[in-house]
Amino acid sequence: MNYRHQFHAGNFADVMKHALLVELVRLLQRKDRGFVFVDTHAGRGRYDLATAAAGDSLARQPEWPEGVGRLWDDPGLPGALATYIALAREHDRSGGNLAVGPRFYPGSPLLAAALARSADRLVLCELNPMECDALRGIMAATRRCEVRCVDGYLELAALLPPLERRALVLIDPPYEAQDEFARALASLREGLRRLAGGVFALWYPLTGRARAEDLLSALAGFAPTPVLSVELTIAAVSGGPRLSGCGLAVVNPPWQFDETAREIVGFLARRLAQGPGGGFRVDWVVPAV
Ligand SMILES: C[S@@+](CC[C@H](N)C(=O)[O-])C[C@H]1O[C@@H](n2cnc3c(N)ncnc32)[C@H](O)[C@@H]1O
Repeated sequence: MNYRHQFHAGNFADVMKHALLVELVRLLQRKDRGFVFVDTHAGRGRYDLATAAAGDSLARQPEWPEGVGRLWDDPGLPGALATYIALAREHDRSGGNLAVGPRFYPGSPLLAAALARSADRLVLCELNPMECDALRGIMAATRRCEVRCVDGYLELAALLPPLERRALVLIDPPYEAQDEFARALASLREGLRRLAGGVFALWYPLTGRARAEDLLSALAGFAPTPVLSVELTIAAVSGGPRLSGCGLAVVNPPWQFDETAREIVGFLARRLAQGPGGGFRVDWVVPAV
């Protein structure tokens, strides 16, 4: 387990995932009844962008300037993106950053927590002990929030169905293991078996198209409910190791999520482009009937 999200915090992939997550939470909150937010791969919760490129033997370029850095001061963001940036800015400010650019960046747990109502609940799973310890500290004062230092794939089955009978599940693996696509799919399939109406959002990398197509067709093979794929590419997908795009497959997306998702990734494709051949797609993998 070598993956540290710290190096990637606030990059284009985080921006897409987090903006879509904020929108999913917002749409689920159109109903008064509470829901549980399950983050199977929660990370450390917050990231200090000042150290985002440091900490291992490799000299790395920080990734956030080409991600959240490009949106930070933009007064012309569409509504859904403006909400996400407002939450990120609020977190940065409350962390004590007085500089013009961003310093403290919230991960998925803090973004969900910032929006949670008294009826909503959070369960955050993180396998890396150091990351999980950090997450525990950061979430300690958050009410109705549980941090579990466990394998999120296995834990999901134990968490569903929840008492609320409503759930938003984010599955956000690091994809460092060869079998990660298969494990993510198996976990989602079991989750769906336990809560057929749950909203599941699975993040996937676009280093090559073939694996993403395989993932989506496997999903279509077992998900009898609507599945939407939302993809963003910041340059042509080459098949090499560089991450030039990513996607979020959403099972049971809330009503009208497809429309705001299109607005979000359409805007991001223009603002976050890093080379020719980028773009976006929003497709029904399994159509809503
Ligand atoms: C992409 S990061 C998560 C980022 C976070 N969801 C966010 O958006 O802020 C993936 C995390 O999964 C953790 N991890 C890896 N395998 C895991 C597993 N089987 N169960 C739970 N966490 C795992 C890694 O330690 C890493 O912190």
